[in-house]
Amino acid sequence: AAAVACYRQSTFVMIKPDAMQRAGEVISRIEEIATLRIADMRLVALQPSMARLFYAEHSQRTFFEDLVSYVTSGPILAMRLVGPDAIKVWREALGPTDSNEARRSAPGSVRALFGTDKQRNAAHGSDSREAAGRELAFFFKDTVDGICSTSEPLTEL
Ligand code: TYD
Ligand code: MG
Repeated sequence: AAAVACYRQSTFVMIKPDAMQRAGEVISRIEEIATLRIADMRLVALQPSMARLFYAEHSQRTFFEDLVSYVTSGPILAMRLVGPDAIKVWREALGPTDSNEARRSAPGSVRALFGTDKQRNAAHGSDSREAAGRELAFFFKDTVDGICSTSEPLTEL
């Protein structure tokens, strides 16, 4: 089948504890991306059990328990962003996982500006439609459907 443009794709964003003190600036970066709109937002105190589920794909990695401690060290801001190609657009705005690498290769990116290293990297973005669906369902129960629609205009909530 021919590729169909996805005009109303949703992605999951989390402002991690280290960047919460500068959450306003991270949100400003989102607002600067004209095609992205914040459609949902929640302040959440992640419990360790929830953090382990959220990062389950990394459960066998050596950094897993450190990662769980870090993301549960303070409140996080969970968001749903909507817009054409939102998953890719936000991953590009984030920059590489390691904030030090981001400062070298993507100096204006969110992780370059607001993160510290490869663990404390300021923010999260879903890496696929499957991940976006799973992660959004995790934080925003009623948005399991509607990850991608080709018919609804961007301006329609
Ligand atoms: P990963 O999915 O590889 O990166 P991304 O967030 O860019 O999709 O890893 C998930 C998170 O795990 C990452 O944001 C920070 C943490 N992490 C570490 O703490 N140490 C590491 O070596 C890696 C690769 C990731
Ligand atoms: Mg990832």
